[in-house]
Parts: sequence; structure tokens; C-alpha cells
Amino acid sequence: MKKLIIINGPNLNLLGKREPEIYGNQTFVEFFNSLKQKYSDFEIDYFQSNIEGEIIDKLHEVGFSFHGIILNAAAYTHTSVGIGDAVKAIETPVVEVHISNTYARQDFRHHSFISPNAQGVILGFGLQSYELAIQSFV
Ligand code: DQA
Repeated sequence: MKKLIIINGPNLNLLGKREPEIYGNQTFVEFFNSLKQKYSDFEIDYFQSNIEGEIIDKLHEVGFSFHGIILNAAAYTHTSVGIGDAVKAIETPVVEVHISNTYARQDFRHHSFISPNAQGVILGFGLQSYELAIQSFV
């Protein structure tokens, strides 16, 4: 079975509680369980960390064997040369996702260290951004 992983960065553990007007009311675990059921042809893993180095370690761990990575590096998107370099270093294609339309928000959210090395970018569709990313691997 083809393996995918969703990797979420800092503060995304608070989905459902955090700024619901931007990020919605649903917890990620709830949403993730429905995704797993819907896309049962894939084995889909989930990893969340608030720590930059743990995200880099996870990219190294899965990045030579998994079929695809769906990465929402959250705030690290805009700051982390290290995560950007890790995305470049691995072989598994990475689809960058964001829940919000980062281009409609503050200027500092307009730059991504992930995008130049991502296979594609999906943003602004709420949690559905993740589902659209999975569909890109179907
Ligand atoms: C985010 C957008 C980032 O700018 C922000 O720091 C996040 C979430 C999104 O999914 O919309 O934490 O990646």
C-alpha cells in the first residue's frame, strides 16, 4: 500500500481552538480520521510537532521511502531555511499546504522557504487543502 504522511508544524495541535475564524472549529484528529476512511487505498500517517528539528528529523525518516508528504510547516514556512533544505534533500515529493490563504494575510506570510522545493502548493481552502493534496497523489 502506498504510504503518505501529513506533517503539521507549530500550533496546529490547537486546531479547533485556535483562531477559529481563520482555522475553523474542527480538531485535526477528527478531520484526519475522516480522511483516512475516505482514502483507505493509502496508508496515511500523521505527525505534528512544535519543534523545528523534530520536523526535519521526520522528513529525513520518511523522505526516502514514502510515496508522498503533505507538509504544513505553519509559521516555520516563513522562517525555516532548515526545513526548506530538508525538503530539497529528500526524494519523496512534498506538497505544501496551508489552511488559510497566506497571500491574503500579513506580508511576512507571503514568503515560503518550502515552495521552491515543493512539488506543488495548495492553500486557502481550509482543512480541504489537505484533501486536495492527497488527491494529487491519487
Ligand atoms: C498556516 C499559515 C501560517 O502563516 C501560520 O503561521 C500557521 C498556519 C496555515 O495553515 O494557514 O500557523 O500554515
